[in-house]
Amino acid sequence: MKGGTTTDWREQELAQWYNKNMRGSLEGYASLFGFDKNDAVLDLGCGDGTLLAIAAQQGARVTGVDISDVQLAASRQALKGVKGATLIKSTLQEVNFPEQSFTKVSIRKAIHHLTNDEKGLLIDKIYHWLKPGGILIIEDMILTFALHRRDENRALVEKDASIYYGSNWPDFRDAFFTTMYQELPCDLAQLTHHLLFTGFHILKIASPACFMSTVIAEK
Ligand SMILES: C[S@@+](CC[C@H](N)C(=O)[O-])C[C@H]1O[C@@H](n2cnc3c(N)ncnc32)[C@H](O)[C@@H]1O
Repeated sequence: MKGGTTTDWREQELAQWYNKNMRGSLEGYASLFGFDKNDAVLDLGCGDGTLLAIAAQQGARVTGVDISDVQLAASRQALKGVKGATLIKSTLQEVNFPEQSFTKVSIRKAIHHLTNDEKGLLIDKIYHWLKPGGILIIEDMILTFALHRRDENRALVEKDASIYYGSNWPDFRDAFFTTMYQELPCDLAQLTHHLLFTGFHILKIASPACFMSTVIAEK
């Protein structure tokens, strides 16, 4: 498989720990899309299929992509009984679809597994996979300060994280700093650069903490 991942998500324990403890509720995130029966939804790095199941409940046709058999098995379970759902085992670097296949695309907490170039290439591809007026939402560790200023912003990150994660922060701290230093987070300037150069219009950026952003873009 070409184009791997910075963390070995094929490990069952990691996937199960994340899904149980760190994933959080996806209801608020899902509501940003306003899914309905006219939607064809793609979730890249779909994890345990929670977002796909919400979209399917609202009548959308759903497609999920993930590298992990464990996550795909969980997605299959979440989508039990849903007609026409498609699950694809692939890396985000390799997956491909015909032009204008989807109305809404999500990448939640998965783009930090890609290098900056891979992020740009994927965003270019998504632009082609979306129908005109289609929506892309990316939520992840997207820093509100320059990526190379991670160290000097460490105190601010610690402060925001203890508020954002509340009493769970001590349990999440190791995983959080693994993502920040050993995986491939980006900053808002890098991400918006890719989106704008590709042709997307940025509709909204919300950053509830200095390390976490949700970016909504339209084709
Ligand atoms: C932190 S989880 C997020 C899952 C889900 N989107 C959510 O919000 O709960 C990251 C997911 O991305 C998948 N993943 C990691 N690297 C990947 C890659 N290179 N290609 C495809 N999927 C990948 C993992 O298997 C995992 O399910």
